[in-house]
Amino acid sequence: MTGEENAQRMEKIVSLCKRRGFIFQSSEVYGGLNGVWDYGPLGVELKNNLKQYWWQVTVRERDDVVGLDGAILTHPAVLKASGHVDTFTDPMVDCRTCKTRLRADQLAEKKGIKQCPNCGGKDLTEARPFNLMFQTQMGASADPASIAYLRPETAQSIFVQFKNVLDVSRKKLPFGIAQIGKAFRNEINPRNFTFRSREFEQMELEYFCRPEQGMDLLAYWLKERIKFYEEIGISRKRLHILDVPEKERAFYSKGTFDIEYEFPFGRQELEGVAYRTDFDLQQHIKASGKALDYFDEETKERFVPHVVEPSAGVDRTVLALICDAYDEDSAPDEKGKMETRIVMRFHPRMAPVKCAIFPLLRNKEPLVAKAREVQALLRPHMNVFYDEGGAIGRRYRRQDEIGTPFGITIDFETLGEKGQELRDTVTLRDRDSMKQERVAIKDLPQLVSSKIR
Ligand code: GAP
Repeated sequence: MTGEENAQRMEKIVSLCKRRGFIFQSSEVYGGLNGVWDYGPLGVELKNNLKQYWWQVTVRERDDVVGLDGAILTHPAVLKASGHVDTFTDPMVDCRTCKTRLRADQLAEKKGIKQCPNCGGKDLTEARPFNLMFQTQMGASADPASIAYLRPETAQSIFVQFKNVLDVSRKKLPFGIAQIGKAFRNEINPRNFTFRSREFEQMELEYFCRPEQGMDLLAYWLKERIKFYEEIGISRKRLHILDVPEKERAFYSKGTFDIEYEFPFGRQELEGVAYRTDFDLQQHIKASGKALDYFDEETKERFVPHVVEPSAGVDRTVLALICDAYDEDSAPDEKGKMETRIVMRFHPRMAPVKCAIFPLLRNKEPLVAKAREVQALLRPHMNVFYDEGGAIGRRYRRQDEIGTPFGITIDFETLGEKGQELRDTVTLRDRDSMKQERVAIKDLPQLVSSKIR
């Protein structure tokens, strides 16, 4: 695809997200809050499906990982020890001509001279470090002792609670602590839709181990995480692994891989998988004076565990799911004429709505009653949507556009009007092939459930 085609594709995706209720600009009626997004009725379902599946495979299906839900408001001492207060910065430059604040690494350059990418101005200030954390005040007094931060990553509460979790869970190394939650960064240039936001969610795992296990576990978790993206339906050919060179890694990391996705706006990071050594625990030991170490019952050794961290962005993965799913093909309209069909090819596991239920006609009471029965039958098992408005082809099209993998139509056969053998059967339509099969209503919960797990 050319750059222009990619830009058009992205425009269509952003417009569909708003039109169908995946993602809205936050505070839109007041002109919007830059870098902050609200998830609509479909967006929240998609996001929840992603988070639940991550939790399922990372925590519930494993004996060696437990969960945590830490607070967002964070003690400044935690973020001082972690290095965030002093070094979590981006170099920033002000353009004196158009008064824009820019990231120093995003300046334009012409004939070796740095320029403002907005106005072309060359009157720029020197680069200054700009801390990305959101600071707030706890309580009524405004003195420096009341400063707290909105966490810039979920990881730190895991490190700080390491000993408590270890004691209550009685886990042996290697074991992990997982967390999903909000993080906040005052990004200088939020951009590319939700890709770089100021408020976002992370899915992080801190997997603690013996020092000699670190490099092998880094390779293990990279493989696991690639498998995860494939399992949620992201095509492998659009995923890339970047082995981050030593000079670009954090100084304490012995190995870092970025998992990148080919977004329409370029190849960008979805997740970092990093071997962070014992840096974080050591920092908190030094700063707090508390023993955040591990005692090995078998070898009688006491040591500070090392950690491998797969750290993924919820919002970036949702955006990758949406970009990967977006497709256009052609399908016949009501009169059999071919028209362009927009279809979101979500993996059924991720699809916000699993099954749409349609009575063939809205003004035939027995069809409507039967359709409501089918809705009640499936509802305890999955998110379903009932729709009786408009021609059936239009209704299919509306569901294709939001990626609903299955459509169930209740017709006159269902009522037994075309032979008793078809009574209480419905058509089950597949979104991708558009093929329909006839299925007994009583088999639907098991049949559809097996396709969406
Ligand atoms: N604990 C390690 C850590 O936070 P990071 O690479 O800064 O590492 C991890 O962040 C992931 O969080 C990124 O790979 C990305 O998916 C997500 N993320 C980071 N900043 C983001 C932002 N401004 N908007 C959306 N997602 C972001």
